[in-house]
Amino acid sequence: MPDQGEAANPAAPSPATPTPATPAERPWLRTLPNGKPISALGFGCSSLWAKSSFPDARAAEILDTLLAEGVNHFDTGPSYGEGLGETRLGRWLVGKPLDQLVITTKVGTNLVDGRIERGFTPDLIARSLDGSFARLGIDKVDVLYLHGPAVEDLGTPVFDFFERLKADGRITYAGVNSFDNPVLMKTAQSPIDIAMLQYNVADFRNRAAMIALHEAGKVVMSGTALARARFSPASFLPTSPGKLWYLLRMMRQEPLFPVTGLRLARRLRETGKEPAEAALQFLTGQPMILSSLFGTSSVEHAGENARAGHGQLSNRQWTRLADYA
Ligand SMILES: NC(=O)c1ccc[n+]([C@@H]2O[C@H](COP(=O)([O-])OP(=O)(O)OC[C@H]3O[C@@H](n4cnc5c(N)ncnc54)[C@H](OP(=O)(O)O)[C@@H]3O)[C@@H](O)[C@H]2O)c1
Repeated sequence: MPDQGEAANPAAPSPATPTPATPAERPWLRTLPNGKPISALGFGCSSLWAKSSFPDARAAEILDTLLAEGVNHFDTGPSYGEGLGETRLGRWLVGKPLDQLVITTKVGTNLVDGRIERGFTPDLIARSLDGSFARLGIDKVDVLYLHGPAVEDLGTPVFDFFERLKADGRITYAGVNSFDNPVLMKTAQSPIDIAMLQYNVADFRNRAAMIALHEAGKVVMSGTALARARFSPASFLPTSPGKLWYLLRMMRQEPLFPVTGLRLARRLRETGKEPAEAALQFLTGQPMILSSLFGTSSVEHAGENARAGHGQLSNRQWTRLADYA
């Protein structure tokens, strides 16, 4: 039974939808609507991991480590490393049991003729997707996301495109990856099956959209599960080219992160856990989110994060973090 804290959860859907399990009841392996198991955490084959300056061997070692810890969800896209994210994932997939893995990629930030070209016309995204399948070395993905569409891109041409791909057995689910509330609200009213949004311990801006999507019966995934680790100052000391890359990304996107990061770290430590562990368990315990994606360039962090996903916050700890929404 939900305890008092859970009853006060501000993110709880209306009584019209089935009552979600309490955080403490959520298992590591959940299921997609077709019954395929999916791990509570997934890996984003993107960011630094997908760069050509990042060693191939370490990229593969990270995936091996995750798989050994039970992670079976891997997300990528043609724009990550201009195709290298998909190529690296594809090389690693050789000989792996695809029926036990959830592989997702994107269209919209298309890679066509060696260039990234944004757009959602069926011809353009079909060409980009052909390249994605070739780089991944597979002929079907579990989810194909529209990567950052505008509201007006969500119309009959893309919906028909998805239907054709489903009929041809090339995708199982149609998805939208957006952090934009109007786009997510429109997605909730559309034939799209799955939305990947941004909801994490530091960012609740998509919360109303997440509830709308859940109530509409859509599957919800969360990107940026670690809130870019702003709670970890050591991640941003420019002691290596990789850390300098992270520092520059944060300075560009969230210049106030040294202040907000310290506050967040304090809040997460109140759980008695390491900040990354608490941040991940906040998401694995969120009843409306099926699986959450993190990034890392570190084999050690990959293992730690996957193991964190197998544990959980108490309802009380989880609700305290949710109360900041
Ligand atoms: N951001 C977007 O716009 C977007 C869009 C679509 C999909 N996604 C998906 O979301 C995924 C995750 O996004 P992201 O990589 O931007 O952000 P993220 O997962 O929130 O954070 C990555 C940061 O966390 C650090 N980190 C990882 N594990 C840690 C640990 N245990 N302790 C301390 N620091 C740790 C990483 O540093 P180390 O490398 O040192 O571990 C890196 O600085 C993407 O890979 C992508 O698939 C994102």
